[in-house]
Amino acid sequence: MALSLPSLLILLTTLLLTTEATTFIHSRAAYYPNSDEHGTDVGACGFGSFGATINGGDVSAASDLYRDGVGCGDCYQVRCTNSHYCSDKGVTVVITDQGSGPNTDFILSRRAFGRMAQTNDAAASLLALGVVDIEYRRVSCSYPNKNITIKIDENSNYPYYLAFVLWYQQGDKDITAVQLCETQNFVCKLLDRSYGAVWTTTSPPSGPLSLRMLLSGEDGDESWIVPVNNIPENWKAGETYDTGVQIDI
Ligand SMILES: *[C@@H]1O[C@H](CO)[C@@H](O)[C@H](O)[C@H]1NC(C)=O
Repeated sequence: MALSLPSLLILLTTLLLTTEATTFIHSRAAYYPNSDEHGTDVGACGFGSFGATINGGDVSAASDLYRDGVGCGDCYQVRCTNSHYCSDKGVTVVITDQGSGPNTDFILSRRAFGRMAQTNDAAASLLALGVVDIEYRRVSCSYPNKNITIKIDENSNYPYYLAFVLWYQQGDKDITAVQLCETQNFVCKLLDRSYGAVWTTTSPPSGPLSLRMLLSGEDGDESWIVPVNNIPENWKAGETYDTGVQIDI
């Protein structure tokens, strides 16, 4: 079969893109020594109990991939490499904490660690090893039937101090900035990432609030996402508010 130069280029580009999407990076993973099945609800990301139970408890602490909190909520496919014990698929985890062990990139929940195995017996053997060689790659997070949701932190103090985290962000991009805008005169205020996934502001704008989220991709592309729903004027600590938007994957 003779291929013209343009079609050859297209073929090459396709191959490169495919390879890029499937490249795994070698590393090591351990698991939370004291955890029961799930992750921790005092994780560095500030997700609270949500951080232990999201994704069925398949969660992880990250070391470098934590990226000063930008990595909170990211999803990774992690698979161990011992062919006797490990499945090809491995497990998909959500980053909810920061931590590192001996040369590890991930400290998985016990449940997630065991789920890299082919069988229950293999899971017991993996757990006995404690730390294992793995391969990982970033993947899109997927939350079917969920919109991005604002969880107002319990430490918020209406109307003086507002802190919140964002739940259920789909895809493989990062939210790198968040603005709050008054809906009447469109005065906006840029928020601080105080730690982990927690966005805060003292003296938040008043009235119903419109949130804007800056979505950044690895290739440098950026776009603002604007929710359909506002945060109500009388927002309350501990409440959750559905933004009415989600990132298509
Ligand atoms: C997500 O938001 C849309 C409005 O933009 C709404 O129609 C839909 O019910 C919401 N989905 C869920 C699961 O709440």
